[in-house]
Amino acid sequence: SRADVLRRIDELVRLVPDYPKPGVMFRDITPLLADAAAFAAVIAEIAARVDGPVDLVAGMEARGFLIAAPVAVALGAGVLPVRKAGKLPGPTAAESYDLEYGTATIEIHPATVPAGARVLVIDDVLATGGTAAATVALLERCGAHVVGLSFLVELEALGGRERLAGHPVDVLVAVP
Ligand code: PRP
Repeated sequence: SRADVLRRIDELVRLVPDYPKPGVMFRDITPLLADAAAFAAVIAEIAARVDGPVDLVAGMEARGFLIAAPVAVALGAGVLPVRKAGKLPGPTAAESYDLEYGTATIEIHPATVPAGARVLVIDDVLATGGTAAATVALLERCGAHVVGLSFLVELEALGGRERLAGHPVDVLVAVP
């Protein structure tokens, strides 16, 4: 059941204080990935909650890839890797966004995004929303229709959801 899936996420996402730096509570999904039944249930739950047809599932490097690819297979969709700068051969389309210190850049291959393609965006964690908002902006600039975003975990205190206004956001577990 859905309640069982949520309980397994709570049990299998390991909390690591002060990683990667002091004051940050890291959420390590490797125990969840390693549990065959729990991982399959999470993928099925994310896929079941998607509303309407999807052509491509975009996943953010690196942990987003691990969720986006099996969800894409479950939905009968393709996969669109959203990569950190410098990993894809050209031609690429890029979007930069602000981090706490400095900036980050993500890139995709726009040739793999047909005009009007219905794209679902997937990542493991919604934190500040910077990565997800940049992904939406990049996809829309490339002619995609972003049908929604799905996350395993939302860190509500960081306000990421406000940066995704206008797009349906689905999360399995919300942390206050
Ligand atoms: C983490 C996480 C999301 C992003 C969320 O990725 O997997 O992609 O940060 O943060 P935000 O909402 O504040 O943008 P990270 O950059 O650590 O990359 P990784 O998956 O390669 O470890």
